[in-house]
Amino acid sequence: MTTSLDLHQDKALRASAPTSTSGLTDRFGRVHHDLRVSVTDRCSLRCSYCMPETGVGWLSSDTVLTATEFVRLVGIACTLGIQRVRLTGGEPLMRPDLVDIVDGISHLPQPPALALTTNGIGLASRAAGLARVGLNRINVSLDSIDPDVYRRITRRDRLDQVLAGLSAAKAAGLWPIKLNAVLQRGVNDEEASTLLDFAVQYGFELRFIEQMPLDGGHAWDQQTMVRESEILARLSSSHQLTPVAERGHSPARRWLVDGGPATVGVIAAVSQPFCAGCDRVRLTADGQLRNCLFSLREHDLRTAMREGASDDDLAKLFIQCVAAKGPGHSIGQVGFRQPARPMSAIGG
Ligand code: 5AD
Ligand code: SF4
Repeated sequence: MTTSLDLHQDKALRASAPTSTSGLTDRFGRVHHDLRVSVTDRCSLRCSYCMPETGVGWLSSDTVLTATEFVRLVGIACTLGIQRVRLTGGEPLMRPDLVDIVDGISHLPQPPALALTTNGIGLASRAAGLARVGLNRINVSLDSIDPDVYRRITRRDRLDQVLAGLSAAKAAGLWPIKLNAVLQRGVNDEEASTLLDFAVQYGFELRFIEQMPLDGGHAWDQQTMVRESEILARLSSSHQLTPVAERGHSPARRWLVDGGPATVGVIAAVSQPFCAGCDRVRLTADGQLRNCLFSLREHDLRTAMREGASDDDLAKLFIQCVAAKGPGHSIGQVGFRQPARPMSAIGG
């Protein structure tokens, strides 16, 4: 079904279509340079906006790709123009062989810039090892620095471990560090300015992410979601915010905090979709390629690979997947359907 949002985005996309071509160009001219790889759907936390307390139905381990399989697929993606790779989960540190994946990717003939999104649990003991084999950057999810609120959101009492992980990552040279925070009304929305003070004090780049309908419990509600406008109003009551002009392919819009140099960002994926500038494609832990967080269709690289597909055959699947990308999501429009996979199984 075509929605008014689709049409609006269609027009914006055609107007912004670049003239250059690459292996991973979609029919709207968006050239894809960024690959997100979910290396596991398992997680050490149970954040309420992501998973029910009991967790979700996990992928069976024989379908989850090995380190060697991930490195092979990332290598093929890099020959097609992928320049940035982010390892995500679930929680990527749940994989004991994460260091092998990082090592393999950073030793590819065309190594990409390599980043990790983590909840920080277990980071303290592993940051230095990951940095040593080639990890460049990390983003750490942190929705509260109040231990009680942190426990309420994540259903685990582990704030201390995250803070220790942040220190270790900084000491290991994984810098600058970005913090991701999702605000929920009546839970941590009043903590927005406190989180910003914390980030500024330690030199972290804080980004707020609007909550998206990707929760395993299907409890997302557009009416109660904390929007960018509200986040900015809250921050402005305690800080002077000045917009930063350049955005590039970043989903975050940024503001200087009290004249800078500190900045704060907001990823307003719901209220201000940035689909026209999207240059991302996603590989799930079970080897399915997705051209959008919200796509309802996937390209099965795992089966092809395990049945003996050549690198060229797999490259064709990457190209087909990107070619099939739609103009953008239609959250809030008639006909929107939440994908069957939750965020924890897609990768943020
Ligand atoms: N909406 C917005 N952000 C989410 N994240 C997880 N689930 C959601 C959701 N439904 C965040 C995590 C992590 C990042 C990758 O995505 O907090 O920081
Ligand atoms: Fe890209 Fe899909 Fe996100 Fe839009 S919704 S920015 S197309 S991943």
